[in-house]
Amino acid sequence: MNPSGERPILEARGLTRRFGGLVAVNNFSFSVHEGAIHGLIGPNGAGKTTTFNVISGFYAPTAGQVLFRGLDISGRKTSALAAMGLVRTFQGSTLFQEFSVLDNVRVGRHLGARAGFIGRLIGTDRLSERAADAKAMETLDFFGLQELAGEPVSNLPHGHQRMLGMAVALAAEPRVLLLDEPFTGMNPEETRRMMALVRRIRDRGVTIILVEHDMQAVMNLCDIITVMNFGALLVEGAPEMVRNDPAVIEAYLGSTDGAGHAS
Ligand SMILES: Nc1ncnc2c1ncn2[C@@H]1O[C@H](COP(=O)(O)OP(=O)(O)O)[C@@H](O)[C@H]1O
Ligand SMILES: [Mg+2]
Repeated sequence: MNPSGERPILEARGLTRRFGGLVAVNNFSFSVHEGAIHGLIGPNGAGKTTTFNVISGFYAPTAGQVLFRGLDISGRKTSALAAMGLVRTFQGSTLFQEFSVLDNVRVGRHLGARAGFIGRLIGTDRLSERAADAKAMETLDFFGLQELAGEPVSNLPHGHQRMLGMAVALAAEPRVLLLDEPFTGMNPEETRRMMALVRRIRDRGVTIILVEHDMQAVMNLCDIITVMNFGALLVEGAPEMVRNDPAVIEAYLGSTDGAGHAS
């Protein structure tokens, strides 16, 4: 995945996160290269969501570091990371239900507003506000949500709310987008649409880290897959290799999820 030998866009080094006596993430290291769709999988309880929470600033690591474009960002706040271009998707519960679809995307743009502060200082806010609205509509268009722009989020069906969660994240113009189980609760048609969108987002130059239990989707989408088990690295490689790795098969068989279905 790294033939040119360039610096990874995101790197975890010896990441550890404890909750009391429980070690959710245990000396875990992995590197993500720019432009990749990088899968993070493993049986239930393997530590995937905790890894995401540490990377995206929801939890501080107990030990170890997270590097974003070579810079140590361990323990920085979610908002600071979003402004730097590291964004995780918003679940239904983090959307503003009583706000309109468009207003939620506007919130996303503010999260990523790298130039906003200067704009406010020199008074270009009005102009940039209008440009921002155009951008927000463009983002809704990208997700096929433009006709719902004025609707309160609470009126949207589940699948549309998940799309909107991704639209809000994308509106922040991330360089790295963390997706935690984006296909959960989606029917096959919605999953196909969402997969195509994930590819298009990557083609726009956004690096994607994907936690997902839908193995078909993971195998189809990812350039490289890191498998976690008991908070640590188990195996890493191309989808074909990972799919056939005996240690991976055993980890899934040994979990309560059974074969081929992990979360
Ligand atoms: N906030 C928390 N407090 C206590 N234990 C937690 C917390 N979050 C996760 N854990 C525990 O950490 C382990 C890893 O969980 P998680 O990262 O959610 O795994 P995964 O996403 O791979 O299913 C599990 O044993 C889980 O119960
Ligand atoms: Mg999880």
